Amino acid sequence: MIGYLKKLKRAFVSWRQRMEARREASRGFAYDKAQFMAGAGALHLDRKAAARTEIVMGYHVLEKGLTMPRRRLGFGKGAVIHLMNLIDSFELRFGTDEPQVRHAVAVLRAYRELHRDWPEPMPRLDAFLAARPAIAPANEPHVTREEFFAAKDAPFPAFAASRHVCRHFAGPIPRETLDAVFALAALAPSACNRQHARVHVVDDAFLRERLFALQGGTRGFGADADKALVITADLSSVRWGWERHDAYVNGGIFVMNLCYALHYHGVAHCILHWSVAPTTDREAHRLLGIPDNEVIVQVIACGMPPEEFDVAASPRRAPEEIVTWHGGAEK
Ligand SMILES: Cc1cc2nc3c(=O)[nH]c(=O)nc-3n(C[C@H](O)[C@H](O)[C@H](O)COP(=O)(O)O)c2cc1C
Repeated sequence: MIGYLKKLKRAFVSWRQRMEARREASRGFAYDKAQFMAGAGALHLDRKAAARTEIVMGYHVLEKGLTMPRRRLGFGKGAVIHLMNLIDSFELRFGTDEPQVRHAVAVLRAYRELHRDWPEPMPRLDAFLAARPAIAPANEPHVTREEFFAAKDAPFPAFAASRHVCRHFAGPIPRETLDAVFALAALAPSACNRQHARVHVVDDAFLRERLFALQGGTRGFGADADKALVITADLSSVRWGWERHDAYVNGGIFVMNLCYALHYHGVAHCILHWSVAPTTDREAHRLLGIPDNEVIVQVIACGMPPEEFDVAASPRRAPEEIVTWHGGAEK
């Protein structure tokens, strides 16, 4: 009888905890939705930060084009016009003193220089650049494999500065290299050491192609990748409703460690978003047989790099642009 009562009590406590977690999750997701609707850039294109984001995305498309394998001249004409329009409008509203916007102009100048001998005239771009003579072309480095991985054993600042995505793949990754990469990636920290992250290695060419088609961000280079890594996080490791972001937070930390591990082991990697519609997410789960309790956090295309290739500069914002001090010793 006592055993039965104890069992009943345990079942009741566990039911109460589940109900509590559900309530927290409902409140949490409602809060997230309200916060997202109020703050997401795409819904507020009139704000400076959102306008800057549009420009960064605009120059990123061209920067990617400038460094893509099998690059064909004449690419991105629409993207050039779109970016010039965005810059004109930004400068009119917010002025010209904005590093990311200056880089956007630098990318346009690099684009123009690449098309120096292109037979079609580009009068609008030429006038646009002539009005901004002080901005030099962006430097999208052309490197050898040895140069790209030269800081492999350097102290962390040099190593971290040397890591970049690489969209050039030339060969298969040895199995022992991948095993060493995963062992290093697993050192990523996680909440209560719960180790939410999982890795699905997509080796089959047909599955990889389907996955990349669903993902949509590998045009021009995905077909060269040796493997796709799908990083998921196990929702069974999440305990409370307030931990509704934990799968993505812990998964994201793992992804960064994985990228460093790939770079350390001389493997070229390109991180790929998983910002997809629910139907696409379901399709990827079905395609790869990913269990329902795993959420897809990120996809990574990887392979051994060719002997030489181009890298997108992708300059970062200065620390003072992203850091806010709340008291303490700012100076
Ligand atoms: C969350 C995330 C999603 C990304 N998605 C894509 C993608 O779909 N296609 C792509 O070519 N690059 C993608 N990238 C790569 C970024 O463009 C790249 O990391 C960024 O420009 C900074 O460059 P770096 O990694 O070389 O320093 C993604 C990166 C991150 C972190």
